[in-house]
Amino acid sequence: MKFVLASRNSHKLAELRRILDGLGVEAVLESDLGVDVEVEETGETFEENSLLKARAVMEATGLPAIADDSGLCVNALAGGPGVYSARYGGEGLTDPQRCQLVLQGLKGQIDRGAKFVSVVTACFPGGDVLSARGECPGTIAYAPQGENGFGYDPIFFVPGLRKTFAQMAPEEKNAISHRGRALEKFRTELEGYLRGLDQ
Ligand code: IMP
Repeated sequence: MKFVLASRNSHKLAELRRILDGLGVEAVLESDLGVDVEVEETGETFEENSLLKARAVMEATGLPAIADDSGLCVNALAGGPGVYSARYGGEGLTDPQRCQLVLQGLKGQIDRGAKFVSVVTACFPGGDVLSARGECPGTIAYAPQGENGFGYDPIFFVPGLRKTFAQMAPEEKNAISHRGRALEKFRTELEGYLRGLDQ
């Protein structure tokens, strides 16, 4: 089965692709099909936004579409930036500037607990929907560390491994990340779904 990956974030695409490859499904990009769907993320939850993105791309291409909506939820920021992670501080900021904003927001805070959340959703042309959520708990580092990854990776510290996401190799991050976990659950759901179609 062929799926369209409903994302333009090259880092996310690489992570999604690496994990989906193992499933034996063919993943193509919106750009491979000559479509570029602009989706307004008006939902208040990762589930809603993930569904909005997947449904819009499925409708535009006529193919099953997979989308991920994800973000960083920080305890001391009342769960923020959450679904607003990509636009935290305004559209014009760079990833390092957004990291600094989170660090500033945590000045003087004792609780540095946080989690990354990812919801992966597939929409099928017949109307079926599959969805899976993954979370990765961690803390916010005191300063950015590491060069890998993207977004908030340099400030997201995983105590068990004593590293930020940005200090991990891609495989290391995928093995424990919110997106890796969501995709792992999604893989199980998709396998069940595809088996059901065969019967
Ligand atoms: P969206 O899901 O495209 O709306 O954006 C999610 C935003 O959350 C990204 O732009 C990043 O800022 C952040 N984010 C999501 N997943 C990760 C990750 O694995 N590492 C670092 N930042 C992430």
